[in-house]
Amino acid sequence: MSEAIADLFKSLTHGVYLIGVADGETRNAFTAAWVMQISFDPLLLALSINPDHASFPLLESGGAFSVNVLKKDQPDLAEHYGKSGDPGPLAEPDWTTGKFGPPLRNDAMAWFECKAKYIAPAGDHMLVTGEVVGGKLLDADAMPMTYADTGNLDGAGALFPDSFTG
Ligand SMILES: Cc1cc2nc3c(=O)[nH]c(=O)nc-3n(C[C@H](O)[C@H](O)[C@H](O)COP(=O)(O)O)c2cc1C
Repeated sequence: MSEAIADLFKSLTHGVYLIGVADGETRNAFTAAWVMQISFDPLLLALSINPDHASFPLLESGGAFSVNVLKKDQPDLAEHYGKSGDPGPLAEPDWTTGKFGPPLRNDAMAWFECKAKYIAPAGDHMLVTGEVVGGKLLDADAMPMTYADTGNLDGAGALFPDSFTG
């Protein structure tokens, strides 16, 4: 892997989020950085998700997801939900359930509730477009966590190629 390419990509600024998904009673949540707004009318967000994640089939079948914005002082949550395996119960008091099923994190800076509109392949990930159908700013005074704050928590450093192709 090329540290120069990994460092280059670290200069792109991302937030850090817990993505909630649900299909009926089956719920999951995982840490994601690849989230962005892509439209005003309608209000759309895009999420890039690895289709091998346990959350992906739940997102597809449930047709909805939540985006829970992490605060700077919540690195433990980014780490916990960024590890594979059962994340434990997504229940009160830490979590509540949104209108469309996906769990919402009560101590997040903010949350968005999205209905999945389009799901398309994007290299080794899937690009999910979500229409924002609800949301709340829970802590206006908080500072959002940035992806750079997480260092190499996701192990992404090892995934970059040695050089550019094409
Ligand atoms: C800081 C950080 C950012 C991450 N960003 C993403 C992302 O944008 N998309 C993605 O698919 N996985 C991302 N991951 C990896 C997932 O959080 C991780 O693989 C998780 O275990 C998937 O959970 P699941 O298999 O239970 O769905 C990120 C992990 C970390 C720690």
